[in-house]
Amino acid sequence: MSVFTQKVIWITGASSGIGEAIALELSRNANEAHPIKLVLSARRADELERVARQTGLPAANVLVLPMDVTDFGAFSAHVERVRQHFGRIDYLFLNAGISQRSTVAETDFSVYQRLMDVNFFGTIALTKAVLPLMLAQRSGHLVVTSSVAGKLGVKYRSGYCASKHALHGFYDALRAETHSAGLHVTIVCPGYIRTPISLQALNATGQVHGKMDANQEKGMAPDVFTRRLLKAVSRKKEEVYIGGPETFGIYLKRFLPGLLSRILRNREGA
Ligand SMILES: NC(=O)c1ccc[n+]([C@@H]2O[C@H](COP(=O)([O-])OP(=O)(O)OC[C@H]3O[C@@H](n4cnc5c(N)ncnc54)[C@H](OP(=O)(O)O)[C@@H]3O)[C@@H](O)[C@H]2O)c1
Repeated sequence: MSVFTQKVIWITGASSGIGEAIALELSRNANEAHPIKLVLSARRADELERVARQTGLPAANVLVLPMDVTDFGAFSAHVERVRQHFGRIDYLFLNAGISQRSTVAETDFSVYQRLMDVNFFGTIALTKAVLPLMLAQRSGHLVVTSSVAGKLGVKYRSGYCASKHALHGFYDALRAETHSAGLHVTIVCPGYIRTPISLQALNATGQVHGKMDANQEKGMAPDVFTRRLLKAVSRKKEEVYIGGPETFGIYLKRFLPGLLSRILRNREGA
């Protein structure tokens, strides 16, 4: 029996990449004796339906709930829908996000606003909408997808890095405030994971980058990433770094910041 047995688990960004892999990995470990209930959210309803089918879970155990994480005003209604459907929310994987490929000098200000809306404000607004229910339950676990770029600054991702850094301040504070109320917060910093994230990354004018970057292509498989993530979540880890050698950058930043700075400024390519 796993910690996820009988639990209601809401995943944002479930139509693709890491969110999809979380849904499939959780379902792989579930069965009649150890059921789970999933809520799958993202904008593309057809992709969510595809993932719901691939989970192989009984239809009654999956709620497909399409939503745009920048539609902040709709969140209370979404939470109420989940509460009415499944009665509670045990885990919320706050995973929806978009990346960036453009220098500070060339990037339109509107691109920064979009990155903050999707990656930061969308994440904290949904958290605030779910929080009253988790506090009333006196239990709940928030799992936030940050990035290695949430711990250091890399070229062409200034807004992405800023949006992910902001998550750490917010969720460290929330963890401290809600620990005694029985809530848990895990922040995960993935390195390069093999997903289509670079295809949807925004360029200087807010258009999609549209290219699969080499680092992503060579990255860790999403199912391998997810198995490590779920182990960390079940152990209630506060912060975890999962990926290849790029995750060592976080330790260099802490212990040898000058060396990391030299490496990052000499690094070429997206
Ligand atoms: N892949 C990596 O190497 C890597 C590394 C570090 C961190 N991350 C983080 O991991 C998370 C998942 O990314 P991924 O790699 O799995 O990329 P992905 O395959 O592109 O998935 C991104 C997900 O976010 C959803 N999304 C984007 N904008 C949204 C919006 N406005 N409203 C609702 N949902 C939205 C997308 O669904 P729709 O388009 O259907 O809305 C999709 O399901 C992101 O937070 C990303 O920053 C990824």
